[in-house]
Amino acid sequence: MISGKARVAGVMGWPVGHSRSPRLHGHWLAEYGIDGAYVPLAVPPDRIEQALRALPALGFVGCNVTVPHKEAAFRTVDWVDETARRMGAVNTVIVHADGTLEGRNTDGFGFIGNLKAGAPDWAATAGPAVIIGAGGAARSLVVALADAGVPEIRLVNRTLARARELVADLGGGIQCPITAMAWEERRDALSGAGLVANATTQGMAGQSPLDLDLEALPLDAVVTDIVYTPVDTPLLVAARARGNVTVDGRGMLLHQGRPGFEAWFGRAPVVTDALYRAVFGD
Ligand SMILES: NC(=O)c1ccc[n+]([C@@H]2O[C@H](COP(=O)([O-])OP(=O)(O)OC[C@H]3O[C@@H](n4cnc5c(N)ncnc54)[C@H](OP(=O)(O)O)[C@@H]3O)[C@@H](O)[C@H]2O)c1
Repeated sequence: MISGKARVAGVMGWPVGHSRSPRLHGHWLAEYGIDGAYVPLAVPPDRIEQALRALPALGFVGCNVTVPHKEAAFRTVDWVDETARRMGAVNTVIVHADGTLEGRNTDGFGFIGNLKAGAPDWAATAGPAVIIGAGGAARSLVVALADAGVPEIRLVNRTLARARELVADLGGGIQCPITAMAWEERRDALSGAGLVANATTQGMAGQSPLDLDLEALPLDAVVTDIVYTPVDTPLLVAARARGNVTVDGRGMLLHQGRPGFEAWFGRAPVVTDALYRAVFGD
């Protein structure tokens, strides 16, 4: 039950119907008995600036921004935090009392939060991190893993030019060496690695499995997939079968929502089993 004083936030996307964020924040609002609401906002690309600028007038406390709006949101908000600045993308917007818009990027926070929860023994310093993919999500993984303290990042992408572009954009702002590697090198890239993360769309329902031979990967490496439909992607099944610890992608979504919820609704939320059921138990 919400009152006329309810704090209101939401998620802007196009399309937005598939988003699980309303379930995520709705669960926390109910769990903590907060007078608030979190709603889906279908905003077409040519209206994202207008929609974000309307948030203060509508009395919104902020919103999440999802595909395809993260770069446009970065250009629209009044200021951004350090992480969003380095990534050039915003996924969380906070409306301040003076009506200004702050942009943050919590995708990397979500990735690391999920990794630490799912593989508590993983140490960033244990070895190089291999990221497969060079799209928007891979960018957040690069910044987050470098900040977490990995000694080296190997970035493998089907389109090498895109991996090189990512390295050119982000390489100067991170603390560890990063190398763009060709698709043909992906097997060798796993040698000596401490972590492998799939940040491509491969393995999603309706897509081919990620074509990755794990033979060169040490058995003590952690394997994670940010694809979460299905939860057990072919990559995770293969990695678990040979003895690697695996972490599925659902928790990245759950953990990335924590900073926004706290900023909007004033309570630091916790990721629980009940939350997993509420968000993913279809
Ligand atoms: N768990 C979470 O919270 C979370 C958060 C964000 C995203 N995701 C998921 O992460 C995935 C990537 O998202 P994104 O926004 O980064 O997408 P994106 O920007 O479109 O990037 C897609 C990536 O997949 C690669 N790819 C596509 N088809 C391929 C193929 N046949 N073989 C090899 N590589 C292929 C692309 O390589 P090219 O450059 O060669 O095209 C690119 O690196 C999506 O499945 C998304 O749902 C999950």
